[in-house]
Amino acid sequence: ERSSNVQTRPPVVTIMGHVDHGKTSLLDKIRETKVATGEAGGITQHIGAYHVKTDRGVITFLDTPGHAAFSAMRSRGAQATDIVVLVVAADDGMMPQTVEAIDHARAAGTPIIVAINKMDKPGADPDRVLNELTAKEVVSEEWGGDTPMARISAKTGEGIDDLLEFISLQAELMELEAPLDGAAQGVVIESRLEKGRGPVVSVLVKKGTLKQGDLVLAGEHYGKVRALTDENGQRVKTAGPSIPVEILGLPETPAAGSEFLVVTDEKKAREVADFRTNR
Ligand code: GTP
Ligand code: NA
Ligand code: MG
Repeated sequence: ERSSNVQTRPPVVTIMGHVDHGKTSLLDKIRETKVATGEAGGITQHIGAYHVKTDRGVITFLDTPGHAAFSAMRSRGAQATDIVVLVVAADDGMMPQTVEAIDHARAAGTPIIVAINKMDKPGADPDRVLNELTAKEVVSEEWGGDTPMARISAKTGEGIDDLLEFISLQAELMELEAPLDGAAQGVVIESRLEKGRGPVVSVLVKKGTLKQGDLVLAGEHYGKVRALTDENGQRVKTAGPSIPVEILGLPETPAAGSEFLVVTDEKKAREVADFRTNR
């Protein structure tokens, strides 16, 4: 199918950083919800995907877990993303997973914006963070480098407007575009089995528009999209470029990081799925 109608698309921003430095809290503050408090032990177990409307347009965020066991998942997050927001707690400074996130972003060629978080805490020492990051060649614009850094508090909301502004400016520089029309393609963010719903596959559309009723091939599985829901559980009819959405209708759960695409021919979908299964 021919895709025309190339349009500006929202940036996809992955929040990365050391465990407990405040990635989920930052997203919560941006969304003004309380996802972190609903999680067991406040540890993010999976990649969450959200999109928010700001004064300067839509921004899509992927939240990644900070636990070391999830580093493979974090590297997939880096590949699905346009911009990395690196959260560093001002009272803790650069830590091993901060460095790991920098390495992932570099390997993927993704620009970094630093959010120096927990500025409300008495022990906050942002200059120390700037020094430590400089040693890793992540140098603040304030110090003559090319990395925007916002001093924020996910608790009070301080500095979050600056951070959103930096994200929008970076996105404008990148001139992000995608065809709006045509068969959708994208990446599986995560998938899980949910009681009463079956396989729920969270995807990020990269190009085209995904619609209810589309035949989707994702990794080794294919099926007809029975329903699309947004990250708030609201039914939607379509999802365009950079928009995260949950798919119901796949028979099983494809691996996170799998590519998905909409196909027109069921026979071909089955052949590709079988080929991938037996590979
Ligand atoms: P993982 O997903 O487990 O890696 O953690 P995370 O980076 O998502 O951190 P999370 O948002 O779960 O926050 C960890 C702890 O820090 C929680 O107790 C938060 O309430 C606290 N916290 C996060 N941001 C701030 C902040 O700006 N100020 C203060 N005082 N506490 C914060
Ligand atoms: Na946490
Ligand atoms: Mg978290």
